Amino acid sequence: MKNTKLILISTLFASTAFINTAHADVIDRATILANTCAGCHGTDGISQGPLTPSIAGLPKSYISESMYDFASGKRASTVMQRIAKGYTDEDIKALSKYFSKLSNKPAQGE
Ligand code: HEC
Repeated sequence: MKNTKLILISTLFASTAFINTAHADVIDRATILANTCAGCHGTDGISQGPLTPSIAGLPKSYISESMYDFASGKRASTVMQRIAKGYTDEDIKALSKYFSKLSNKPAQGE
């Protein structure tokens, strides 16, 4: 049993180490940033429920404008103000570009 655990742990270690080195230069910053949005907006910006809108495929300018308007409070929001405030101009630019390139699908139940 102890051995099995040890093997499991070392396999996990080995695989994370592998992922880190093998993909370090493949996964860009925008992809990492976008992972934070996936929890609510769904994988690749396709929402799984009616509470959050899908953001994939929205126009780049619309996404960045929304982020700035949420951050400033110009656009009302439940959670996006807190989230939008945490990103730099550069991040918002990268995120807007990233999501605008994905194909859109409305949230389920919308
Ligand atoms: C905690 C859940 C949550 C997370 C995480 C989240 N969002 Fe949102 N997002 C929402 C909700 C809910 C709305 C609807 C507005 C509101 O009530 O805040 C929204 C709305 C939006 C809109 C407007 C969409 C439209 O159709 O007008 C954009 C753009 C957006 N989010 C981008 C992002 C980006 C980019 C990230 C990642 C940096 C992100 N969101 C992370 C919950 C979330």
